[in-house]
Amino acid sequence: MIKAIKGTKDLLPSDVPRWHYLEDIVKKIFTNFNYKEIRTPIFELTSLFARSIGEETDIVGKEMYTFEDMSGASITLKPEMTAGVVRAFIEHSLGAQQQLTKLYYISPMFRQEKPQAGRLRQFHQFGGEAIGSASPILDAEMIQIAFDILKSLGLKDLTVKINSLGTTETRENFKNLLREFLNDKKDKLSEDSKKRFDNNILRIFDSKIEIDQKLLADAPALIDQLDDESKNDFDLVKEYLTKINIPFEIDPHLVRGLDYYSKTTFEIISGKVGAQDALLGGGRYDLLAEQLGGKPTPAVGFAAGIERILLACENENSFKVDELSIDIYLIRIDKELELKVSELASELRRKGLRVEYDYLQRSVKAQMREANKFNARFALFIGGGEYEEGKMNLKDMKTSEQKLIPIDNISEVIDNIKI
Ligand code: HAM
Repeated sequence: MIKAIKGTKDLLPSDVPRWHYLEDIVKKIFTNFNYKEIRTPIFELTSLFARSIGEETDIVGKEMYTFEDMSGASITLKPEMTAGVVRAFIEHSLGAQQQLTKLYYISPMFRQEKPQAGRLRQFHQFGGEAIGSASPILDAEMIQIAFDILKSLGLKDLTVKINSLGTTETRENFKNLLREFLNDKKDKLSEDSKKRFDNNILRIFDSKIEIDQKLLADAPALIDQLDDESKNDFDLVKEYLTKINIPFEIDPHLVRGLDYYSKTTFEIISGKVGAQDALLGGGRYDLLAEQLGGKPTPAVGFAAGIERILLACENENSFKVDELSIDIYLIRIDKELELKVSELASELRRKGLRVEYDYLQRSVKAQMREANKFNARFALFIGGGEYEEGKMNLKDMKTSEQKLIPIDNISEVIDNIKI
């Protein structure tokens, strides 16, 4: 038997209502903040991701699904959305229509990571990107959107972590300072951190390995070395967050796994999902548009992992979705009325009702059982003596009340159902 690929997951009909519930909240909240939805292709040229996320990152270095297409071009299944959104923003001159472009998305992503709880190879993100303003108010607003969505899903065990990575210059100076600090400790670092020391030294802060964490305990913090502009912006972000009642912690080690960030970065962590605890992450990326060939355009955004969030919701038992019931089940009493029943069903469906009936020539008893299984609000009995007298029997399944309705009088059925 052929099975689904490791790290991918089927969403069965019993899973989907929870996804719809989450997606409705995401759309509602983004729309309240006047964001418009964008959908970009599942695959892009590999160079787009290499240039934006960064050659030395884990994502580009070892996690991308990359292949050559028939023309010999190197193609990659998108591991994240920001690069594609900024590409589309530049390609379609979206910034020419208004100065600030606010976009949101819900889409599958692909990363060849080692699968574990909350970590998949095909996973789904929702997220937002606000392109065209450097205002720190927008940073705080992004965090608010993210936080409000998680709260609307009923989640409680959340920690908002924020940091600032400063400007490129601040970061370069800090990297030198960190290199000096770690120089005589380098040999004691874990193998991964040794590599990062040479390639992407800031990412050393991401290490969960105890020995690295011990060595880093007294390391200088970027947040203490910020340039005036980044510091002022960060102070404003903190002030706005406080004003809009979003509790947060400053995490000087929050460096994020993608290279395009500058200034504000943030993550929201759940205490209920195990090791992969970041429900979402984001930050400012003021230089990305220019790096991808556009005009200099400051921007900020975040993306959230839907599977991880739903895992947190399940573990916190944070919301319940009722299975969609049907409005009416048509019960065929006489075998020969099969066509009549399906004709009535199709008319009722065209009027917008959720309708079901039996396709398997089952007994009246079995049809009743199924009507109950589907939680039908009404049952309509077609056949028997009533049918000979030109009537159908409509039964309210909650009150057991019954009403005779002339055959073919669809509008009377509908009027009674609405009551
Ligand atoms: P990221 O931190 O790489 O950021 O991913 C965001 C979220 O996607 C994570 O916090 C996590 O919930 C989820 N996620 C990532 N990888 C996996 C995986 N293998 N399995 C399940 N969930 C996963 C970005 O993607 C940036 N584009 C965020 C951003 C948008 N920054 C600015 N704008």
